[in-house]
Amino acid sequence: MTGSDVPSGADGPEVVGAAAPRVDAGTRPVPAGLDARAAPVIAIDGPTASGKGTIAQRVAANLGWHYLDSGALYRLAALAAIRAGAGFDDPGPLARIAATLPVGFAPDGRIRLGADDVTDAIRAEAVGNGASRIAVHGAVRDALLALQRGFRRPPGLVADGRDMGSVVFPDAALKVFLTASAESRADRRHKQLIEKGISANLWSLLQDLRTRDARDASRSVAPLVPAEDAHVLDSTTLTVDETVGRVLALWSARG
Ligand code: CDP
Repeated sequence: MTGSDVPSGADGPEVVGAAAPRVDAGTRPVPAGLDARAAPVIAIDGPTASGKGTIAQRVAANLGWHYLDSGALYRLAALAAIRAGAGFDDPGPLARIAATLPVGFAPDGRIRLGADDVTDAIRAEAVGNGASRIAVHGAVRDALLALQRGFRRPPGLVADGRDMGSVVFPDAALKVFLTASAESRADRRHKQLIEKGISANLWSLLQDLRTRDARDASRSVAPLVPAEDAHVLDSTTLTVDETVGRVLALWSARG
């Protein structure tokens, strides 16, 4: 997440409870008379490892807007569930965990869960798979809705995920559905992990990615499908710069 005034969840030791997500003391309220909903949103959705995060961050930086990595919230909820000893199948406890997630997003991009810096921990494949498993529960998705919408602030928000354009910000000014072939996505994810010093096997990444695609696309709640009014952008043969350029061109050319 970028920007010093990007909202964060609560700081605090508790993980399970009934309260709505709280906001860090450092978060500034939206100034009086300014409707946060008026801030434009660019929604970038797509399957795992399609490059959404990189593209969305670059587009946000280019426009000077805020950025929401909604997948990080699902990953944080999955990590909190693992730490609380909750399984991935019972929506009740998982929704309570998601609703009171003690998240903190620092301006330098570090992500905390309570007092712990979990920036790297949430990127583990096991946590990504857990995120995909808890994301099938409607109660978990509902619990994360207000937290996600809280990131919408002037001058604008670029949000990436699976359902940014279809559910979370249906009135987004621009919706992009970013895809790439499964092989090229596995290859990108492999390079990303190796660069971070995390060992990874290309073949098993490809299998994981196909399993996750199938689960994300077939779930009954907020399945991974392009919003009706989304622009589908296949980045298989595009560089990052070219893909960012296409999104910015779509933004400039909008109605
Ligand atoms: O990095 P990758 O694209 O694999 O995943 P992510 O964007 O960090 O999201 C992790 C998981 O959370 C995904 O596999 C989805 O199942 C879930 N997710 C979701 O259901 N809805 C979102 N808006 C974002 C993520």
